[in-house]
Amino acid sequence: MTTVGAAVPHESARDHVTGAALYTEDLAGRFPGLLHAWPITAPHAHARVLSIDAGPSRTVPGVVDVLVGSDVPGEGDSGANRHDEPLFPTEVLFHGQAVAWVLAESRDAARAGAERAVVGYEPLPALLTIDEAIAAGSYLNDPLRLARGDLTAIERSALRFDGELRIGGQEHFYLETQVSIAWRDETGGCAVVSSTQHPSETQDIVARALALPDNQVTVECIRMGGAFGGKEVQANGLAAIAAVGAWKTGRPVMVRLTRALDMMLTGKRHPYLARYEAGFSSDGRIEALRLEFYSDGGWSLDLSEPIMWRTLFHCENAYFVPAIEVTGRVCRTHKTSQTAFRGFGGPQGMIVVEEVMAQAAQRLNIPPEIVRRRNLYAQGQHTPYGQAVDEADRMSTIWDRLLTTSDFERRRAAVDAYNQANSTSKRGLAITPVKFGISFTATFFNQAGALVLVYRDGSVQVNHGGTEMGQGLFTKVAQIAADVLGVPLASVRTMSTRTDKVPNTSATAASSGTDLNGAAVADACRQIVGRLRSVAAGLFDCDPSSVTFDQGVVSGGGRTVSFASVCEQAYHQRVSLFANGFYRTPEIHFDPSTGRGKPFHYFAFGAAVSEVEIDRFTGASRVLRVDILEDVGDSIAPVVDRGQIEGGFMQGLGWLTVEELLWDDRGRLSTAGASTYKLPSWSEVPDTFNVAFLEEATERSVVFGSKAVGEPPLMLALSAREALRDAVRAFNASAIVTFDSPATPERIFFAVRRARLSLPGGAPRRAAATADAS
Ligand code: MTE
Ligand code: MOS
Repeated sequence: MTTVGAAVPHESARDHVTGAALYTEDLAGRFPGLLHAWPITAPHAHARVLSIDAGPSRTVPGVVDVLVGSDVPGEGDSGANRHDEPLFPTEVLFHGQAVAWVLAESRDAARAGAERAVVGYEPLPALLTIDEAIAAGSYLNDPLRLARGDLTAIERSALRFDGELRIGGQEHFYLETQVSIAWRDETGGCAVVSSTQHPSETQDIVARALALPDNQVTVECIRMGGAFGGKEVQANGLAAIAAVGAWKTGRPVMVRLTRALDMMLTGKRHPYLARYEAGFSSDGRIEALRLEFYSDGGWSLDLSEPIMWRTLFHCENAYFVPAIEVTGRVCRTHKTSQTAFRGFGGPQGMIVVEEVMAQAAQRLNIPPEIVRRRNLYAQGQHTPYGQAVDEADRMSTIWDRLLTTSDFERRRAAVDAYNQANSTSKRGLAITPVKFGISFTATFFNQAGALVLVYRDGSVQVNHGGTEMGQGLFTKVAQIAADVLGVPLASVRTMSTRTDKVPNTSATAASSGTDLNGAAVADACRQIVGRLRSVAAGLFDCDPSSVTFDQGVVSGGGRTVSFASVCEQAYHQRVSLFANGFYRTPEIHFDPSTGRGKPFHYFAFGAAVSEVEIDRFTGASRVLRVDILEDVGDSIAPVVDRGQIEGGFMQGLGWLTVEELLWDDRGRLSTAGASTYKLPSWSEVPDTFNVAFLEEATERSVVFGSKAVGEPPLMLALSAREALRDAVRAFNASAIVTFDSPATPERIFFAVRRARLSLPGGAPRRAAATADAS
């Protein structure tokens, strides 16, 4: 009997719904004398800090101290790569940036203290948009580039067109905001419990700030109430503030951002500007594509460069483009430092090629699903960066199966009939693919460690470097440990993630949590089973290779004993019952200077069909039905995977249709709360939502044949954007329908208006060449 593949619930499902699951802030009550921190925030997007007078803050009852730059014993900077994020800036680089922190007995006192501080600023001019940054030549990096083939093919193509697409960012809106508690531990080191996806990096940054070696700092993550990439690096600086406060005052310090502060201070999904120029044959085959991406990186580099790389790696999505040139550059603006967000730049790449496919279909008058199908990768073809698309046939298999299972053809006719019969509301139907590369593109991150402890009674503790943010990593890893050890799932306890159990870990990100940590845990468990096998063979007087372990029962030579009794026996024979495991992803490499390599261990494939309805007078839209077919390999936890697919799709739908970040002309985020920032909720869930896994999809080189599922489904929501385009076009079958993202009711309203009045959509840079439509 196996645990892997069984429909087990998320290991914390019950605790999540009863409220018993503990999050970092819930531990606050365990720290007598805990101080709360509140930032003194700058009212300018760009300014020099001339003076900070914290005297008035200190008069507020309950205020204990005010942290300023000179309180940092070590390096006062939390920038993980470039060291470009001063903890106490002398130059303010975005509206709301913290210039100092007030510590007090209560959060209210700290807040009142922060409000009293008198800070002198010299305001400076600010760059608030991508366009302003481009005009000023303000960038955070040199251009990145991928290219192959002969781009002059564009000039010879039967259909040529170009244009621009503006792509909005996205707030993570994890339910648990950023939080860290730091204190001086029993042996004089610094202990931190933090809502961080990357405890080892948080440890590094705290150690740097306190001028301590890494072994003096312990970081623990118990679980996160969602992270979505927003806690991959952005927890670090806040943990460092808590640590500096604890070091200075000798008391435990908690930094916990309110929702408004979290939205004001922390980075988001990057807004992008993309320019495209495409050439197609008259039968809808893409011949050449030139793309330029500009992301709004905000004030510091953060992860913007690898995020832009992932945009480049995904700018052809699932389509083979013979000649392609793509460049990407990160703009430096006076905004929050944009960061990782589910898909990590991939969504911004894919939305553009889907725009290009849609426009080609419209201009050629060929159904978009046919244009897309014609351009899907075939077996043996390579990506622009030179990686073979192994299992490309999975993509076309998924596509063709989904067209059948979603009843696409019949529904196409039904949608057309509906549109014939209705003049004020129209429906749209579309299918789009996803091919998403799995692995960190920084090759060295693709490693993981584990520490598995078996006790004499047969119970098990599993430690690994991955963090749990609701995605179900701990569920899957426990299943893996249970199966490899041959014990019931209930015997396995997964411990919170701690840097003193497993060192030098990678962020839990890039959807590779299970691939990496699951494999490391399996490695440790195999070592233990190997030793127990010999012990059991001795008990049974049989050949070790004939001993089996299953659900706590060990069998061999026609006899059975309990797993616990074999453990007890091993202990008495002085056989070690614990092991550390390790895994490194094989054969991946990438050279940024040549833009060539094999950055991904494999690709995750999927496709979605969405049907929508729009209203001509309001631009309001509704998603009626979604059908998804996703390649998750052999699913380790089908219930968890289904949740990831549904949740990922909904988060993508939010990004593409309702969530809109707006900044005012002073660089202040106007949408800094749930009252002004619309999130997808129950009412946006499709009326019919069918999710299926591709069958017979074993991924041979991954633990238990499974495949990553955390990010890829987000991009399936592009099918809804394309269905909206289809619905708009129902108002005028000869219109070229384009609109920026997100497709809010306003944008749909104006897109309908443009279509009805036959006004050009989007913002083409050059007149589109005529094509031989066929
Ligand atoms: N699911 C939940 N419930 N909460 C999250 O924060 N983060 C997503 C995805 N699914 C997230 C989630 C992101 S951005 C990534 S990279 C993966 O989970 C990380 O976990 P994994 O590698 O274990 O899939
Ligand atoms: Mo996910 S954006 O890789 O944390």
